[in-house]
Amino acid sequence: MSFTIVEQAQARLNRSELAVPGSNPSLFEKAAKSAVDVIFLDLEDAVAPDDKVQARKNIIEALRDIDWGTKTMSVRINGLDTHYMYRDVVDILEQGGERLDLIMIPKAGTASDIYAIDMLVTQVEAAVGRKKRLGFEMIIETALGMANVDEIAAASPRNESLHFGVADYAASTKARTTVIGGPNKLYGVLTDKEGDAPRDYHWGDMWHYAVARMVVAARANGLRPIDGPFGDFSDADGFRAQANRAAALGCEGKWAIHPSQIALANEVNSPSDEEVTRAKRIIEAMEQATREGKGAVALDGRLIDIASIKQAEVMVSKAAQIAKAGK
Ligand code: GLV
Ligand code: MG
Repeated sequence: MSFTIVEQAQARLNRSELAVPGSNPSLFEKAAKSAVDVIFLDLEDAVAPDDKVQARKNIIEALRDIDWGTKTMSVRINGLDTHYMYRDVVDILEQGGERLDLIMIPKAGTASDIYAIDMLVTQVEAAVGRKKRLGFEMIIETALGMANVDEIAAASPRNESLHFGVADYAASTKARTTVIGGPNKLYGVLTDKEGDAPRDYHWGDMWHYAVARMVVAARANGLRPIDGPFGDFSDADGFRAQANRAAALGCEGKWAIHPSQIALANEVNSPSDEEVTRAKRIIEAMEQATREGKGAVALDGRLIDIASIKQAEVMVSKAAQIAKAGK
């Protein structure tokens, strides 16, 4: 272990995160009763410019009046390049009461973006005497944000999670796609013409680098990496595949842009009974090995060692966190 200890952000279940437009309050009650872990009420891109002011009012009222149960509540504010942002922060913190847990910062580009919002939030929190410290979730969804992802992740003690915003990221990097997430038939490998005929075309995951890069920055700073939207809500298998590959890389949750995606995200990001049983067997086998003075042993024909305990503990502690939350 390095002499530098990575402090972990406040632990929260974040298997699923539902996007709910602030301009559509008819969706709020249903969201509050859903099985989602985190809700973000949106003031940014799901809200048209003419609706921004009313959406802010809707959110303030909803934070005060609706019973959101044990859900983690977030508000996605507008970007720092707009004139809406400061009032999003000020009005919501001054008038929204204590229920809010997080604010989501879209299109985070530099550490200074986070610093600026931290300063504003800190002032309003102190002025209104807010008791609960607000946390930050940042969307990495621009080339600038990805280039500065390490410093963004480290920019404030309020930081809790990084999110991969695939739609804006595609636009910012000028990627050849107009869909929100998912595979792209242009991104693949054709087997060499010297190979067996017929040649095979293998689709790849064009978002692999971006997600993996964000996961490293998040984990190196004790934050949760969360995969963003998958636009085709009629394609449950497609969603599951995208969520699984993000989870395989270390993400611990995924957005739901439609209520039908909540159960899928929860399922993918909860370890299965089989995974937990195997993890517990690894821990037991390694405890036994340690008692016998061994550093590594074989379990079911595979090598396991001290690192295996840590991997297994990740699985077991995730299952414990889910059980503790009664989910
Ligand atoms: C989310 O905000 C995205 O741009 O994908
Ligand atoms: Mg976006």
